[in-house]
Amino acid sequence: MSVTSGTTTSAVEISDVSVRFQSKRTEVTAIQQVSLDVAPGEFVSIVGPSGCGKSTLLKLVSGLLTPSSGSVSLLGEQVRGPRHDIGFVFQRAALLEWRSARRNILLQAEMRGMDSAEAGRRADELIEMTGLSGFESALPHELSGGMQQRVALCRALLHQPRVLLMDEPFGALDALTREQMNVELHRVWRETGTTVLLVTHSIAESVYLANRVVVLTRRPAVVQEVIEVGLPAERDYSTTMARPEFASAAAHIRDLLGAVTGHD
Ligand SMILES: Nc1ncnc2c1ncn2[C@@H]1O[C@H](COP(=O)(O)OP(=O)(O)O)[C@@H](O)[C@H]1O
Ligand SMILES: [Mg+2]
Repeated sequence: MSVTSGTTTSAVEISDVSVRFQSKRTEVTAIQQVSLDVAPGEFVSIVGPSGCGKSTLLKLVSGLLTPSSGSVSLLGEQVRGPRHDIGFVFQRAALLEWRSARRNILLQAEMRGMDSAEAGRRADELIEMTGLSGFESALPHELSGGMQQRVALCRALLHQPRVLLMDEPFGALDALTREQMNVELHRVWRETGTTVLLVTHSIAESVYLANRVVVLTRRPAVVQEVIEVGLPAERDYSTTMARPEFASAAAHIRDLLGAVTGHD
């Protein structure tokens, strides 16, 4: 599923991008000459040491941040400011406490002025797809952490974004819930065909979900290696974990991260 420039329009094209943050006395280079092509419908995981520039990379794709040099394009169109055709999921679901699950999802439609009947249909479809049926009118405090993240995922997908950006979305969940969310997300990705960029600290998660895993170095982040995950599209969790392709990709990523962080 990797893309060679020129054959098809990339969903995301990051070309030779550098980001420097300037403050009065210091200049921090967060990202240095990073290039990455993501094909439409592809799932790419991004791993790297803390503070290396992963969130910065996602902010560039969403247009929240402008590169110091280089360029970012979404489906062939250069990103010049905040984009409305992306979806973002963060570590915290950030739901409005006084709104039901369904009305939190519909917030996206209200902000974007979507047709309310269509938004309602789409919300119901996503609620069903993510296993939230029966919890539509629950308030956030009545939902588990995993369910809150499902609501955040539905909200991010409501407007059918061209690209879904996820920044450590399951980092605050317990291990078992996280595995369940991985299985859910994999299924939702296959059903929707959305292009996904996922930043994660979990090597298992990065491999289980992705077509490719991008390993970044310590700051300033450069692409250390891009690993093609040779797993079949159908990924039953336990079977996938036991596959030799899974073990070898995970071990390789662990070695790469160990080499840049100085411990394993
Ligand atoms: N707005 C900003 N101003 C100054 N420095 C920043 C800003 N955003 C991020 N940084 C710095 O850039 C580096 C990369 O940050 P970040 O992308 O958040 O890392 P990661 O998500 O990989 O942990 C860090 O050293 C961080 O302190
Ligand atoms: Mg981050």
